[in-house]
Amino acid sequence: MEFLVTGGAGFIGSHLVDTLFEIGNTVYVIDNLSSGKLENLNPSASFYKMDICDQNLCELLCNIRPEVVFHLAAQVSVPCSIQNPYEDARVNVLGTINLLEACVKAGVKRVIFSSSAAVYGVPIYFPINEAHPLHAISHYGVSKVAAEEYIKLYQRMYGTNYVILRYANVYGPRQDAEGEGGVVSIFANRLASKDALTIFGSGEQTRDFIYVKDVVRANLAAATCSPNLTINVSTGEATSINKLAQTMISITNTSVEVIYQPERQGDIQHSVLSPQLAWEVMGWKPNYKLEDGLKDMLLNSTGQ
Ligand SMILES: NC(=O)c1ccc[n+]([C@@H]2O[C@H](COP(=O)([O-])OP(=O)(O)OC[C@H]3O[C@@H](n4cnc5c(N)ncnc54)[C@H](O)[C@@H]3O)[C@@H](O)[C@H]2O)c1
Repeated sequence: MEFLVTGGAGFIGSHLVDTLFEIGNTVYVIDNLSSGKLENLNPSASFYKMDICDQNLCELLCNIRPEVVFHLAAQVSVPCSIQNPYEDARVNVLGTINLLEACVKAGVKRVIFSSSAAVYGVPIYFPINEAHPLHAISHYGVSKVAAEEYIKLYQRMYGTNYVILRYANVYGPRQDAEGEGGVVSIFANRLASKDALTIFGSGEQTRDFIYVKDVVRANLAAATCSPNLTINVSTGEATSINKLAQTMISITNTSVEVIYQPERQGDIQHSVLSPQLAWEVMGWKPNYKLEDGLKDMLLNSTGQ
């Protein structure tokens, strides 16, 4: 099959591109390399260095005519979205609209969108399922909600099918320490240089950490499952930052100090997403428990 991956030079996108090639597909990549890196990008990919807001995007899609588009290109930083809401909306909202217009004209059959747990905001119950109210507390969260709504609108207006995947905190090789789930890559870097780990607050705040290889499998499942669904991609397990730090210290057998700093304003205390729907509609569940994913990342991975 012919696939287009926007953001294919980024952390998650580059792993997806690799797997699409491994199973024998043709893969096109559009990325402006704002946070992605050429060294992450599979050399077999047909690569177009382009901004998703570019007015030539439509012409490009009409030339390559992919059957399925995986839309991962985004402004991914919550703090940057708050500092520069215009840029966040330009890429995440206007860029998505530009892509959807191009998808309609190019006859794309399905758009698979990388959304985020950030759409839920402060949880009012656990685990968060897809019916949880959307009360985003950052510009990034709102821009993801807006992109989701435009994707649904284009399905209703033009019949372009979609699957929206809402990821929990993704971790794995090639992750930039700046990203949404950056704590794992920050700790990995600190452990590699034998520097102290910094934890904000008590460390008892929890997150749902999902390994990038499982996220790639979820994207593949989304290419063939019933369309027009919104699905969490998560483990359903809450892990405290203290537990994460201790697990990483033990796996790498590195003794470093753990330093506690005051809690950061706006940090959500607990987050855990139900992966039940993903199992019911895509037959997907995570293969990696946190410890297994961390071992794969810290001990086996060469970054590839
Ligand atoms: N990493 C996580 O924990 C996480 C959690 C939830 C959702 N997501 C979503 O998953 C997707 C991938 O995130 P990631 O962690 O791999 O981040 P990333 O920054 O590594 O990847 C994003 C890619 O998009 C590219 N890009 C950014 N703006 C662009 C533009 N205007 N035009 C073209 N390309 C552009 C970047 O160069 C980069 O290669 C994003 O949509 C993100 O919002 C990530």
